[in-house]
Order: sequence, then C-alpha cells, then structure tokens
Amino acid sequence: MKKLRVALVGLGFGREFVPIYLHHPDVESLTICDADADKVNTVGDKFLIDAARRTTDFQGILNSDEIDAVHLVTPIPLHAQQALAVLKAGKHCACTVPMATSIEELRAIVDAQRTSGKVYMGMETAVYTRRFLYAKDMLTKGEFGRIQFLRGAHYQDMENWPSYWLGLPPMHYATHAVAPILSLANTRAKSVHCSGSGVMRQELHAQYNNPFPIETAIFELESETSLAAEVTRSLFHTAHAYGELFNVYGETASFEWEQIEDEEPVVYRMPATAAQGRGKPITVEKVQVPYREDLLPPEIARFTRRGVYDASNPHLSFLQGGGHDGSHPHLIHEFVRSIVEERLPWSDAVTTANWNAPGICAHQSALKGGARVEIPRFDD
Ligand SMILES: NC(=O)c1ccc[n+]([C@@H]2O[C@H](COP(=O)([O-])OP(=O)(O)OC[C@H]3O[C@@H](n4cnc5c(N)ncnc54)[C@H](O)[C@@H]3O)[C@@H](O)[C@H]2O)c1
Repeated sequence: MKKLRVALVGLGFGREFVPIYLHHPDVESLTICDADADKVNTVGDKFLIDAARRTTDFQGILNSDEIDAVHLVTPIPLHAQQALAVLKAGKHCACTVPMATSIEELRAIVDAQRTSGKVYMGMETAVYTRRFLYAKDMLTKGEFGRIQFLRGAHYQDMENWPSYWLGLPPMHYATHAVAPILSLANTRAKSVHCSGSGVMRQELHAQYNNPFPIETAIFELESETSLAAEVTRSLFHTAHAYGELFNVYGETASFEWEQIEDEEPVVYRMPATAAQGRGKPITVEKVQVPYREDLLPPEIARFTRRGVYDASNPHLSFLQGGGHDGSHPHLIHEFVRSIVEERLPWSDAVTTANWNAPGICAHQSALKGGARVEIPRFDD
C-alpha cells in the first residue's frame, strides 16, 4: 500500500497535528497551509518543513495531484464549504469540529462523501480522550450493566477569541459533550427540548442573532427502552473552569468525569443482586486512567503525553503533545489507517452528522422556547 501525502490546512490549533503526521509510518509527506504566510513559516521553521511543502494557497492544494488527503483545522464558518471542496476534488477529508452549523450542510457533506467514495472523518477529540477510552473499555466488559442515563457538559469562556466565536449559539459547538454519550449509548438522538439560559451582553447577540450564553438540553435517544441524555454548553459570562465532561449512569456501574481538571474521574459500583436493607451498597473509586499508547504505532505513541520533542537537538527542544487528554495521535492514526485500509473511519460522515445535528436542533428548540424538535437521520 502506498504511503499518503497529506495537507494540513489551518495552523492555529492545527499545528498540534504537524509532528504526528511527520512521524506517522503511513505518511509519506506533509504539506502545511494557512492563509497567514507568517504562520506557515513559523510552523515550517519549527518542524523543519521544506519550502516546497509550505503554502498559503488552499485552491492549489485542491488542484494538486501530489496530495491524497486534506485535514481542515480552519475557522468554523469555513468547515462545510472547504470539506465539500476537498471531497469534490477527489481527496480524502478530515475536518475538525464542528462538521457544519446547519442541517443542510451536514446532509450535503454526507452526500458528497458517498458520491466521491473518499474518506470523510470528523476529528472529534472527545471520543479519543483517555477517559473516553477507559469508559469504552468498561462498556466492552459489560461493567455498566444497562445504561440508564447520560450527561455531558462543555464549559469554556470565549472572550477575546477570534471574531467568529463571538455570540456563537452554544449548541453549535456541542459535539465534545454530545459525541461521547451517543458513542457509549451506541445510538443517535431522536428529539430535543432545549432552553437558553442566562444573559449575554447585547453586542454579542448580533452576529448569530443568538441571545444565549448558555444552552441546556434534554435529548431523547433512539433505544428499545426509554433513554435520555442531558447536555449543557456555556460560552460566555459563566464562572466555570474549562471542561469537556461526560458522565454515564448504568445499573451496576457509573462513570463521572471530575469537576476540576487534572483530578481523577470517579467510578461508582452497585451490586446487581437485591438489597437486604434500604438501598444497595455503593462503592466509590477515584480511578487512574491509563494513556493508551498500546493502541498506537510506536512512532507516534509518545504524542499522547506532553514531552520534549527532540532533546538531542537544541532547535527541536520544545514541548509537544498531550492535547485534549491524549486524543490527538489516535485521531490521526484512525484517519490515516482508514484510508490505507480502504474502510470507513469510526467517525465517518454519517456518524459525525449524528453527533452535530443534535446541537443544531437544540439551538432551534431554544429559539422556540424549548419546543420539541425532531432530529433528522442521515443513514437513509
Ligand atoms: N478539541 C477540538 O477538537 C478543537 C480544539 C480547538 C479548536 N478546534 C477547531 O479548530 C478550528 C481552528 O481553531 P483555532 O483556534 O486554530 O482557530 P483560529 O481562528 O485561531 O485559527 C484558524 C487558522 O486558519 C487559518 N485560515 C483561515 N482561513 C483560511 C483559509 N481559507 N485557508 C487556509 N487557512 C485559513 C487562519 O489564518 C488561522 O491560522 C476551529 O474551527 C475550532 O472549532 C477544535
């Protein structure tokens, strides 16, 4: 199988992925692209990338016969149009979250992926964190018993972020809270009731016609038995530390992400057998969550943790890796291997649309005072 020639577009957050591609055993070359030439050269110099593989020209990447796959890490309003352009150019596409901010765009990307036959992968960090991989292992071993309820939250203050963030409907960037719970419940969300909450200063209302700094939703999940999930998202005027959390409540075990970053998550366990007295005994354990280097090729496994890039070279002796709870190398590995193995990635276009549509519909519900909104399916 030939090695891949990848282009990485958008070098803010995107620069985190440069060393992973450079070291992945199935990647032949990496071209870096940003509209800002200074960023291209700063990142290119930092990682010793040839001048021929630095560009500011996105269209040139689409036209090039020497690029097989494009990873987009550009601003939110560009995701859908750039992903469609990549697929239409006959290239594989990875795109950071969110996939899009309207149902029509989600559907267009699902259709374009099918027509092109190329890989589309939503680069959802929240389903490759080590905490998620731990909960997934618990699920595989049957430790939760029947899942009874799920909860997700993403708190982040976006003051002074780039302009496209200002006043963004909170649920338009909800996938870090939604994707883990839908993955663990192995289903999609059918309908939603969502309320806007709090007060946001007037100047932030204008860009998206959104008055809410916080949105909180109850989703009905597709399931043979009743199953609900609650998701809360805050972006402005809310005093809470950054956190992208999910909790799973099962009949025999539950997993709760810690409230304070860098503490340990908690696992509760309850016996399946009937209680003698009032209530069953519950055990509470703070768990040490392992890094899952064992799931990765050795060349990129170290990027699950933050460490010195190359201690032997003074020019390369900077800290790198460990982003989003160790998820970054897992994402790149799945994208690359899905192309090499000619299969769908785990977070393919339909799955990613199923993780994005709930937030889009939740915001519609919030604008209608919490009315029920049906969430469309994408697998038809
Ligand atoms: N956990 C996660 O999955 C996660 C975390 C952070 C950011 N993100 C997503 O990543 C994206 C980028 O985040 P950021 O903080 O780096 O944003 P940013 O706005 O700071 O940076 C975006 C970069 O894209 C470049 N760019 C803009 N238009 C371009 C074009 N047409 N062609 C090439 N380059 C272009 C800009 O010059 C800039 O360097 C956002 O959409 C955000 O949603 C995801």
